Amino acid sequence: MPEQPRHSSPSDRETVIRVRDLEVGFGERTIMKGLDLDVYRGEILGFVGASGTGKSVLTRAILGLVPKRHGTIEVFGEDLDALSASERRAVEKRWGVLFQQGALFSALTVKQNIQVPMREYLSLSSRLLDELAMLKIEMVGLNSDAADKFPSELSGGMIKRAALARALALDPEIVFLDEPTSGLDPIGAGDFDELIATLQRTLGLTVFMVTHDLDSLHSVCDRIAALGEGRILASGTIETLLASDHPWLRAYFHGKRARAVLADPG
Ligand SMILES: Nc1ncnc2c1ncn2[C@@H]1O[C@H](COP(=O)(O)OP(=O)(O)O)[C@@H](O)[C@H]1O
Ligand SMILES: [Mg+2]
Repeated sequence: MPEQPRHSSPSDRETVIRVRDLEVGFGERTIMKGLDLDVYRGEILGFVGASGTGKSVLTRAILGLVPKRHGTIEVFGEDLDALSASERRAVEKRWGVLFQQGALFSALTVKQNIQVPMREYLSLSSRLLDELAMLKIEMVGLNSDAADKFPSELSGGMIKRAALARALALDPEIVFLDEPTSGLDPIGAGDFDELIATLQRTLGLTVFMVTHDLDSLHSVCDRIAALGEGRILASGTIETLLASDHPWLRAYFHGKRARAVLADPG
């Protein structure tokens, strides 16, 4: 069984995502098989694994964007396969996503990007849509003058923040972040991590975060799950993963880069 997150006791652990015996593949290739995963309400789960192991594919499979060959995926206790189209939309309104690729639509301003999910799922006046978008812009620490800028006019860090604002557009309970700090310098990445931790605390978010960033894993994640060989190799607190004797986990958490972080956990 996975470890409990730091800030909750075993009795109040509600499973918001439950994946069982999942198999996903493309053509001849099987990417994952027999994969089980639980995500608990209110936790920040860090999801790690070597490049190409299927972290993004798993994320997309949970979101229903990649077909599965076998297994069940339950979100908020609902088997996603068993839902009607309207029930499905109701579940989709309760999660937000920051994709690894194509974080923003390049032809739309920041404000318009944030309003895309709002327009899809809510029917509100354009004045209210503008007010809501400005609120999200402020929430992620962007200046209000970023609202009318296009992605090409923004720095990498600002793009990530704007994409996070879009992920938060519908006040979701779960946010999926696929490598949100990749491409940012260490200070920008650290600031983004702090923002995630603050939003998680103030909004009570559940965060599913794919990351390669050891600093993030140490500073903001309650629990970590590692993907490899098509399954979850290990999950639990950072201490649990550090104690694993799996060769990839040992190399990852005890390598040169890891030792530098562990020596100075901040
Ligand atoms: N739509 C697709 N069709 C075929 N192969 C895919 C598709 N999406 C991903 N893959 C393959 O699945 C594997 C896992 O990809 P991905 O989940 O993106 O890895 P990562 O863990 O780096 O996020 C890769 O080998 C990738 O090439
Ligand atoms: Mg990926």
